[in-house]
Amino acid sequence: MPTSLPTSLRELADRHGLLVGAAYNPRAMDDDPLYGRVLAREFNCLVAENHMKFKYLQPRRGEFDFAAADRMLDFSDRHGMAVRGHTLVWHNSIPDWLRQANVSRREALDILRDHIFTVLDHFRGRVFAWDVVNEALGDTGDGFYRDTSWWHQTVGPEYIDHAFRWAHEADPEIQLFYNDYDVEWVELKCDRTRRLVESMQERGVPIHGVGFQYHTRAADAPSPEDVARRVGRFNELGLAVHFTELDIKIPSSPSANDLRQQAAAGRTAIEVALAADNCPAVVFWGFTDKYSWIPNFTKGAYDHALVFDREYRPKPVLNAMMEALQKR
Ligand code: XIL
Repeated sequence: MPTSLPTSLRELADRHGLLVGAAYNPRAMDDDPLYGRVLAREFNCLVAENHMKFKYLQPRRGEFDFAAADRMLDFSDRHGMAVRGHTLVWHNSIPDWLRQANVSRREALDILRDHIFTVLDHFRGRVFAWDVVNEALGDTGDGFYRDTSWWHQTVGPEYIDHAFRWAHEADPEIQLFYNDYDVEWVELKCDRTRRLVESMQERGVPIHGVGFQYHTRAADAPSPEDVARRVGRFNELGLAVHFTELDIKIPSSPSANDLRQQAAAGRTAIEVALAADNCPAVVFWGFTDKYSWIPNFTKGAYDHALVFDREYRPKPVLNAMMEALQKR
């Protein structure tokens, strides 16, 4: 049985109007009764880990499959949880039919427009914010954009503006986010993200916020000052920031010091969000190490990056986050 805490993360976050979220895994929900119980008890926000991505929603051209996403929305409705949408456009979620279709630029744009309108129409009123475009920027010195992306190669960088304009047209109520990794941590990435969204604003493209993915390693997590400053750089543009995919990597068989560093990084995220004017959401990429995506990605390493362990026992990082919420 999970050790129960005096109160929940969710209850404390609610007092501040802060969203605390987790990425949702439908298989875990089916297989494991504790999964849904802990998720609904500790979090007030959900995001689909995979099944709102392009290749899941439109597995065949013109045929949409909303079943898994709809089941998540039933769960979020039952438990009064807000839902973030993730993601309309991502280089890593191109279905095979699209990659193989050899489409022209014009046709690619038509497919994108149709996807966005169909998806936003389906989820109307149930998803409050969407990561419209995910990871469109390059990481290194050369190449402002991720120019290996299928969208970039087929359409050119204008796919970004189009996606945001169509999303706004399809549902003007939704908050539209640009989402990327390392924005909280790497100055070059933060600069580029700021340049991108500022130039979008100059072109009159609708955008409301930036997602800092915040996949981080405890040992070199960004300092509170740096994260706060980077959040502030988007506040200057009138944009919100959501921390969208937090996980805090520590070695397998963590030492007490590893757990302390993980707790410090989690506390930083909550403290920065609470102190900022423009950061109303802190979302983890999963919540129990039992279903973390990281070991798949790192060939088994860093399997302790989330706030509950495999047996749903809270880790020091959860307590640290709760303390930070209690202090203010
Ligand atoms: C990851 C999922 O967690 C995995 O299950 C999947 O195999 C690949 O995608 N950045 C993102 C997320 O924006 O969509 C990614 O999710 C993790 C990195």
